[in-house]
Amino acid sequence: MNVKTLPAADGLRLVLNPKDILAHFKNWDAEHGRRYRLSVLGTKMVVFGDPAAVHQILRDRPAQFKRMSAIESVFAEMGIGGLFSVEGAEWKRRRRLVTPAFNPGALRGFGGTLDLITERLRQRWQREPQDVHADLMRYTLDVMANIAFGYDLNTLEGGGDAIEQRLQQLFPALGRRVTAPIPYWRWVKLPADRRLDRALADLRREVGEVIEKARANQGAEPSNFIEAMLRAQDGDDPLTADELYAEALTVLVAGQDTTANSIAWLLYHLAQHPHVQQRLRAEVTDGTERTYLDAVIQESMRVQPVAAFLYLEALEDVVVDGIEIPAGTAVVTAQGRSAADAANFVDPEQFRPERWLPGHTGTHQAKASIPFGTGPRFCPGRNLALLEIEAVVRMVLRDFEVSIPDGAPAPKEVFTFAAAPEGLVLRLTPVR
Ligand code: HEM
Repeated sequence: MNVKTLPAADGLRLVLNPKDILAHFKNWDAEHGRRYRLSVLGTKMVVFGDPAAVHQILRDRPAQFKRMSAIESVFAEMGIGGLFSVEGAEWKRRRRLVTPAFNPGALRGFGGTLDLITERLRQRWQREPQDVHADLMRYTLDVMANIAFGYDLNTLEGGGDAIEQRLQQLFPALGRRVTAPIPYWRWVKLPADRRLDRALADLRREVGEVIEKARANQGAEPSNFIEAMLRAQDGDDPLTADELYAEALTVLVAGQDTTANSIAWLLYHLAQHPHVQQRLRAEVTDGTERTYLDAVIQESMRVQPVAAFLYLEALEDVVVDGIEIPAGTAVVTAQGRSAADAANFVDPEQFRPERWLPGHTGTHQAKASIPFGTGPRFCPGRNLALLEIEAVVRMVLRDFEVSIPDGAPAPKEVFTFAAAPEGLVLRLTPVR
């Protein structure tokens, strides 16, 4: 089948300006439709935005597709090869041993932590001039460090320490290395790479102590993810200490900015649509219903998914949407595009939570919006992310009015690990 191939200069743009990857893809989606070919420094890629194609690719894992190779190797060499980045039989083993720690029973044990940290965020927003996005990054970092390995970083109250500094080196390094055209650090270490190595060694030692404590504490109700994973081991081939460490760090990496950015975009949508904010506030303070809250969350993640694209590779020769894909070809699933397509949602550019309520009219292909992915590698942190989103939204609606100050520019969507709202300016005015 004839499919448009974009000029090599377009592929080069992705390499030269990785922060703007999302904008490039969006322009090409608008121009070239639901599938097109791209070459990035000689690597051939096919981009798919049709919901059936996206579902096929994400479903046929781990046999036919895997995540882009750089993800597996970069995470592994940093010692954090966990559920997100491992592949094949090893991924199956990890998924079996790790996901019970995410089940609703385990999450209930984390409720107190969430309440405590949400209260810290509320107090910070009552007292300080707000940088909402930066504070949400602190919030999710504090939640995830507490939940992943029981460590109260408390960056919200200024308690950031050496562990925080080590983590703050890790996150951008991952994004940089996964998108780097040449893995130079495997041959030459720059000062930043040496600092990163030291930070990783220190983290491994510090989290190692937590793992030892958790092993000694196995009778008690799990209070963090490492304890919950230890409890979930089935005796047959249990996770080693290195693997427990990798999984705890994976949870931090996969769960921090995805959740912070999702909440930030949601608050931005509420500020842009005061009538939605008003209706949601009424529902939340009334306390009996939660239908509209669910609809607002779904709509916010449809309009602005933080993982609008996933980067994969074909493991076998396959046919997708009529195109023959040889083994080894890079494949991009553009689920953000299918969520923004008029063929799937009526007036797709409109933020309209009502479309998720019973009785709505017009085109509505719910399966075209998959902010947490789909298939066997569907996000296991979804329930925890939703708990965090809900905790912040309820707190904000109870205590603040969210607005956009006059003249504030619209935030720019940039690619870090997840789509971030760069330059977001929101005002939170206390209402009680
Ligand atoms: C709003 C917040 C979040 C969003 C939008 C999100 C989205 C995603 C997406 C799109 C994927 C890829 C799914 C696929 O390949 O089909 C994923 C995978 C994953 N997520 Fe999340 N995520 C969020 C929060 C979290 C949290 C809080 C955690 C941990 C507690 C987490 C842990 C993971 C892990 C471990 C994977 C890899 C699963 C696998 O490959 O088997 N995520 N997430």
